[in-house]
Amino acid sequence: MNIRDLSVHETGKILYNSKMFKFIKSTLPGARVLKVAPLFSVPLDDYKTTGERDAILASSGMGKSYLTGVLMEETLENNTLLCVIDPEGEHFTLAERYPMMIIGGEQGNLPLEEEAIDLYVDTMLKAGLSAVFDLSEYLDDEQQHLYALIADKLFHAEQKYRRKIRVVVEEAQIYAPQKTMGGPGRNKKKMDPLQASQKIAKRGRKRAVDSLWATQRPASISKEILSQCNRFWFGGISTEQDYKAIRPFLNEAGISFAEIKSLNPGEFFFYSKGKTKKIKVRKRHCKHAGATPEAGMNFSATKNSSMEKALSMLTEAVASRATEKQAEESQITQLKMHIRDLKRENEKLRKDLEQEQLATKVIDRLNNGGSTASLNSSGVGSRRRKKSAAEDAKMAAIAERIAEANEQLHPTKITLD
Ligand SMILES: Nc1ncnc2c1ncn2[C@@H]1O[C@H](COP(=O)(O)OP(=O)(O)OP(=O)(O)O)[C@@H](O)[C@H]1O
Ligand SMILES: [Mg+2]
Repeated sequence: MNIRDLSVHETGKILYNSKMFKFIKSTLPGARVLKVAPLFSVPLDDYKTTGERDAILASSGMGKSYLTGVLMEETLENNTLLCVIDPEGEHFTLAERYPMMIIGGEQGNLPLEEEAIDLYVDTMLKAGLSAVFDLSEYLDDEQQHLYALIADKLFHAEQKYRRKIRVVVEEAQIYAPQKTMGGPGRNKKKMDPLQASQKIAKRGRKRAVDSLWATQRPASISKEILSQCNRFWFGGISTEQDYKAIRPFLNEAGISFAEIKSLNPGEFFFYSKGKTKKIKVRKRHCKHAGATPEAGMNFSATKNSSMEKALSMLTEAVASRATEKQAEESQITQLKMHIRDLKRENEKLRKDLEQEQLATKVIDRLNNGGSTASLNSSGVGSRRRKKSAAEDAKMAAIAERIAEANEQLHPTKITLD
């Protein structure tokens, strides 16, 4: 706050202008703000109609995860739900202070089971429990697939719940890449992460879904996703390539390459609604696991009885899903083996039939050289024809059984609804 924001009445009393009034209001207890830095906070009422979509862009080690942690703490302090996509497994520490589901990873209080994603998402929205999805144990393409399932399920569930939630995506270049590796058709079984991200960033507002995208590779994140953001946090950027990739955004905020290059870890330019401000991010309430790998060792989650209850119910439901899945998989294996046996039998019969037909042809030819009438009267040809017809019928029956077995296989495809 600046002295120019104050004016003095002729009676000597200080008059507060609207900027001053806003600042004082934001410091009062219960104010709906994100307290990101000493003497700097983002008033949430300013984004009531537009929704909140943050982009955090900085080179490695410049404080993105730290700032993401601060913004997540502030979101939770404002009683808004979080759905965190955590590829590095460093955000479990939020559970030190806030009741959270930590799904997957070494510190998880729930296992991450693909077939139970709908259960996790429903619990988040129904019971009002925030969740961190720790994807650190998966390869990039598996992370993308799991993320797309989570984001897609959340997007559709919000059609029903409309409960305010913020999706936080760290290392966003993995989930919202500028270039896709061959597109969704590459592997039909895998979900497309970019499509899921577009849904969240473009159409999330109407479904009460806010988002936050953090990346150390601004050149590699989808510019379509960035252009949806209405709050930017620019941290230290060291490479010219990354600077060039986001130059239009930096130009709009009036930030030069020299300025962005000179930032220290924890320093950011905040740009929103046409205004730019340089800030030094406040200290975190929870440990920053990104800085101290041993943070997990001293970590202990806060206790909360209603969360414990929800967790034990969910653990049971997830376990029974896993059992169902196992039973389904063993049925599929059995059916596949059955089909394989039937196919072998079918092949054998086909070969027998071919030999039989060949033999019949030879006999017919021999007989045609002699008296056809005698062959017909002896009944050899008709007996062979009868035998072939019987083999045909047997093969048709086997083909039918294969079709039936295939038919049984198809309905067992796992569906998540
Ligand atoms: N506001 C801050 N106050 C104190 N320390 C900070 C702050 N911001 C960052 N740091 C320190 O800087 C280091 C790097 O921060 P952080 O882990 O957030 O980097 P990053 O940008 O996420 O890096 P990477 O891209 O490699 O994940 C950490 O050791 C962290 O403790
Ligand atoms: Mg990080």
